[in-house]
Amino acid sequence: MNGNLKIALQKKGRLTDKSLELLRLCGLDIENYSERLVVTARNFPLEILFLRDDDIPEYVKDGVADIGIVGENVVIEKQFPIVTLQKMGFGRCSLVIAYPDIPGKAVASPVDLNNKTIATSYPVILKKYLEENKLEAKIIELSGSVEIAPSLGVADLICDIVSTGNTLMMNKLKKSFKIFDSEAVLVSASSALKDKKKNDLLNELLKRIRSVLRARSSKYLMMNAPKNSLDAITKIIPALKSPTVLPLADENLVAVHAVIPADQFWNIIDDLKSAGASGILLLPIENMIE
Ligand code: PRP
Ligand code: ZN
Repeated sequence: MNGNLKIALQKKGRLTDKSLELLRLCGLDIENYSERLVVTARNFPLEILFLRDDDIPEYVKDGVADIGIVGENVVIEKQFPIVTLQKMGFGRCSLVIAYPDIPGKAVASPVDLNNKTIATSYPVILKKYLEENKLEAKIIELSGSVEIAPSLGVADLICDIVSTGNTLMMNKLKKSFKIFDSEAVLVSASSALKDKKKNDLLNELLKRIRSVLRARSSKYLMMNAPKNSLDAITKIIPALKSPTVLPLADENLVAVHAVIPADQFWNIIDDLKSAGASGILLLPIENMIE
């Protein structure tokens, strides 16, 4: 026990790079991990344990890692008593039913699952889905490479995670319908860590993560506008706080700056122009402290 906060990340997979990128945006200096199992940040008392994603909930529950970043799908499947501290806004994927792309094998709707054999690494979630929808199917639990089950004749269908869809395509499988949506979450064994020093570190890290996530979903909008259209422009801007208005050399014009939700920009741009705005700039924000 060295007092470092320990975070578990997926060793190799969809969440690895994005989790590391987020920690680096939090100001942590982390060397390239390559094949190492444990890496310590150079400028923050944080140890990163690289684990199989399916094992992360258990390691967090047992306290081997204090916190972990893992797919919600894995957390729910494992049913351990761990808590989600933060949704991470990346690693979005769905758990879907997929079928072999050969004539006569199509699965169009839930009732088509009746009397089928379905291979999955998510038996708990699938069983619950089948029960809730009063469907009768046989579940074959596989810990990996679920996508090859139909071609091996092990199962009729699969129920697996899809993100880009590449894995399905490469295995000549077609998506039928989804049963669950997921994204990466930050989990811990309880909402506060027992060790006071570690809990302080966790709160510091959470503060930084939340600042990065807030910044990601916001943009800094700048424009020039005639003074007399300021009211109209202020009404258009869905500002988090009231916009900053600055004088310009031309007395009839002002500069207007505001933080806006990133996804609103294209909805308001035409209205801003009609109201007389010019020289509109949209800039990324690196951090947003609350
Ligand atoms: C899931 C799933 C596929 C892949 C699908 O694996 O089992 O292998 O992601 O992604 P794609 O649609 O972008 O091709 P996961 O990341 O959960 O890793 P694991 O199977 O190693 O646990
Ligand atoms: Zn996995």
